[in-house]
Amino acid sequence: MTHHEPTGTRTRTAVVTGGASPRSIGRATATRFARDGWAVAILDLDGEGAGGLAQELAAEFGVPAAGYGVDITDSAAVNEAAARVAASELPPVGALANIAGIPSPVPFLEVDDALWDTIISVNLTGTFYVTRAFLSAMLEGGYGRVVNMSSVSAQQGGGVFSKTPYSAAKAGVLGLTRSLAREMAPEGITVNAIAPGAADTNIRGASTEESEAALSASIPMGRQATAEEIGALVVWLCGQDAGYITGTTQSINGGAYIS
Ligand SMILES: NC(=O)c1ccc[n+]([C@@H]2O[C@H](COP(=O)([O-])OP(=O)(O)OC[C@H]3O[C@@H](n4cnc5c(N)ncnc54)[C@H](O)[C@@H]3O)[C@@H](O)[C@H]2O)c1
Repeated sequence: MTHHEPTGTRTRTAVVTGGASPRSIGRATATRFARDGWAVAILDLDGEGAGGLAQELAAEFGVPAAGYGVDITDSAAVNEAAARVAASELPPVGALANIAGIPSPVPFLEVDDALWDTIISVNLTGTFYVTRAFLSAMLEGGYGRVVNMSSVSAQQGGGVFSKTPYSAAKAGVLGLTRSLAREMAPEGITVNAIAPGAADTNIRGASTEESEAALSASIPMGRQATAEEIGALVVWLCGQDAGYITGTTQSINGGAYIS
C-alpha cells in the first residue's frame, strides 16, 4: 500500500459498503473518495471485487485502500471488519458511506416472511451494524461523517423495483439517520441520508431497454442519475464544508420528486 502525505480530511479513511459491483453507486463513491485524496476501505459481500477495486484505486490515485468480504447483515463479521480496518495501515476512519442495498420488486401479497426479513436486514439492519461498528473509531479520531443510503421510494412510495419492504427499510434509514444525527451532534459527527431517484446501475438486473427508457422518460430531466453524481454528493457531505449539515435527507432525483 502506498501512503502519501495529504492534508485535512485526506489523512482519513472513508469506509464504503457495496462498492464491488461494476457501475454501482458504492464503486463510484469509493472512486470519488480516492480521487479527492481519502484512503478507502471497501466492504462488500463480494470480497474479491472489493479487493480488486481497492487495488485499482491505490494504483490510480496513490491512496491507501483495502477491500473486505463482509455480509453487512452479519454483525460479528461487520465487527471483525471494523477491527481489521483499525489494525491495518489505513489512517483513522473519518467517514462512513452506507451504500450497500438490495431491491424488492415483489408485490405486497407475495412478500413472505423470509423476503421481508432479508430486505429489512440488508437495507436497514446492515446500516445499523456497520454504523455501530465504525462510530467509535470516528469518535476517537475526532472527525466523523456518516452518509446513509435511502431512496425516493422512502419519500413517495416505491416503484416497480422498490416495493413495500424496500420502501419501509429505506424509510427506516431516515429515522435512524435523524435520531443518530441528534445524538451525535454534540460530538461534531454529522449523520445524513441521501435519497436518489433512479440511477443507472446494475441494481435492476435484467430490466429491459424499454423499461429503462420508460423510467428515464418519467423523470423531468429525462434521464437517470449517474452513479458518479450520487458519489460526488456523498463525498461532499463527508467534507469539512458540510460540517453544519446533519440529520437531513438530500434528494437527488432530477426533479422526479420534490419534497
Ligand atoms: N440504482 C438506483 O436506481 C438506486 C436508487 C435509489 C437508491 N439506491 C440504493 O443505492 C444503493 C446502491 O445501489 P446500486 O444501484 O449501486 O446497486 P448495485 O446492485 O449495483 O450494488 C450493490 C452492492 O451492494 C453489495 N451488497 C448487497 N448486499 C450486501 C450485503 N448483505 N453485504 C455487503 N454488500 C452487499 C453488492 O454486492 C453490490 O456490490 C442501494 O442501497 C440501493 O438501494 C439505488
